[in-house]
Amino acid sequence: MESGPKLLHPWQGEPVDYRCVAMRFSREPGAADLGIALPDRIARAAPRRRAEWLAGRRCASEALRLLTGHGACLGMAPDRSPLWPGGTLGSISHSGDVAVAIAARADSCLGIGLDIERVMDGQGASEVAPEALTPRERRHLANDPFSVTLAFSAKESLFKALYPLLRRPMSFQLSELIAWGDQGTARLRLVEELSPQFPAGREIEARFARLGDLLLTRVLVTA
Ligand SMILES: CC(C)(COP(=O)(O)OP(=O)(O)OC[C@H]1O[C@@H](n2cnc3c(N)ncnc32)[C@H](O)[C@@H]1OP(=O)(O)O)[C@@H](O)C(=O)NCCC(=O)NCCS
Repeated sequence: MESGPKLLHPWQGEPVDYRCVAMRFSREPGAADLGIALPDRIARAAPRRRAEWLAGRRCASEALRLLTGHGACLGMAPDRSPLWPGGTLGSISHSGDVAVAIAARADSCLGIGLDIERVMDGQGASEVAPEALTPRERRHLANDPFSVTLAFSAKESLFKALYPLLRRPMSFQLSELIAWGDQGTARLRLVEELSPQFPAGREIEARFARLGDLLLTRVLVTA
């Protein structure tokens, strides 16, 4: 079943004004088609990939419209990162039949990243742990699928927030989840220097929220 993009308010007391939008989309070919001219690699992709790409764009456009009064269909850079209109930044994610996007004003933060993941079961967590967790995380989190999902998702959000700033390859070994609490707040710590502005040891806050069997995370990077 498909539904239009809906505004979410996953967290209270946020330091920055943004709009976060989610939609459920159909896996059927063309179901989410907006009449957008698709980039070649999306036009050639499997129907499932086209549907998720379009659903992400629909959410991003709605998030922009709610933030600025003007929606826009985002282009796609050769590295796959979405191209946000001047003066804005944001992030897109999808999992299963759900797409989400977040948009903020570029003068309010340096970067913003969003991720949505199905909460892993024990087997999923043990498959992901070797690549996604640092040795320290493996010692502390590896037996708890929710924490593994949170670490994985928060690092995806961190990557999406930082990539437009740093334009460098990153890996899951470069940061680790060091704390999280009942209020949907977590902390990541950089394990290695990413740039002079992002030295080893710098801590970056993440927010998280359960949406049924999905976990939504958001990383906001400020100066
Ligand atoms: C790029 C990556 C985040 C994509 O993840 P994914 O599993 O496809 O999952 P999601 O659905 O959550 O996100 C996909 C969206 O991310 C966005 N995205 C892709 N590359 C991106 C980039 N370089 N920068 C910002 N956003 C990007 C796109 O909008 C994409 O959706 P689209 O192709 O439909 O537009 C992931 O493959 C990756 O490389 N992760 C690395 C994480 C990491 O190293 N973290 C440590 C940071 S220190």
